[in-house]
Amino acid sequence: MKKLENKVAIVTGASKGIGSSIAKGLAAEGAAVVVNYSSDKTGADKVVAEITGAGGKAVAVQANVSQPDQVTRLFDETKKVFGAADVVVNNAGIYQFTPIEQVTPEEFKRQFDTNVLGVLLVSQAAVNGFGEKGGSIINIGSAVSRITPPNSSVYTATKSSVDSITQVLSKELGHRKIRVNSINPGMVETEGSIAAGFIGSDFHHEAVKMTPLGRIGIPTDIAPIAVFLASDDSGWLTGETLLASGGVR
Ligand SMILES: NC(=O)c1ccc[n+]([C@@H]2O[C@H](COP(=O)([O-])OP(=O)(O)OC[C@H]3O[C@@H](n4cnc5c(N)ncnc54)[C@H](OP(=O)(O)O)[C@@H]3O)[C@@H](O)[C@H]2O)c1
Repeated sequence: MKKLENKVAIVTGASKGIGSSIAKGLAAEGAAVVVNYSSDKTGADKVVAEITGAGGKAVAVQANVSQPDQVTRLFDETKKVFGAADVVVNNAGIYQFTPIEQVTPEEFKRQFDTNVLGVLLVSQAAVNGFGEKGGSIINIGSAVSRITPPNSSVYTATKSSVDSITQVLSKELGHRKIRVNSINPGMVETEGSIAAGFIGSDFHHEAVKMTPLGRIGIPTDIAPIAVFLASDDSGWLTGETLLASGGVR
């Protein structure tokens, strides 16, 4: 029997990058997966087609995680198509590095709305939706909350908030059979990190030099860790933050 047979999983921001790999990883272990996206319907449909083409179950659902009504719709649609969720992966996230002189209230709000408010709203809906059976919430933080690179004050602050939310909710929700854990990746080559100009930059070369395993990550380095945190194999873990960074810390 596959590890996630009869489980329903929602992965936010799964139209590309780390989220798409996690969606495929969960589906390969038998979960019925909701591939959430914000604007990239084509990307989400492609992920769904890959999963269903391999014999798995998946559906794409648009929702901006920073909008409460859209998050409600995401969970309503999930329930209608597959039944109540058992696993929620808070992966949707945006990043922009800027020196302190260029930080603006607008950029602060943009990153905090998706990376922090989005995690809170989706977790709130998950708690309501899981019901008495409980469930697993997996937050995608970042190694930046340990490494604290220069020019990343806003983004690193969002991901430090994610670390705090993981720990608080693990204590708040344990008695409801809800586990809350984080995966904190180091630099990963994705559509997003390419678009941000990280790949091939000095920052990339520095990251490789600092990494004991001698390279940056790829999305399939992260997906099996999400499968582990979704499955009963990690049933005794909650409030953990797993640094998935090839050893850089
Ligand atoms: N790549 C890295 O080096 C790295 C390292 C550590 C942590 N992380 C974290 O890993 C996560 C994924 O990063 P990535 O590099 O895979 O990103 P990516 O390639 O840019 O993909 C981001 C995904 O998030 C979705 N998204 C963005 N804003 C959203 C919103 N408000 N509501 C719903 N979905 C939204 C995007 O949807 P659309 O395409 O539809 O807009 C897309 O599916 C993020 O939380 C990021 O902070 C990344």
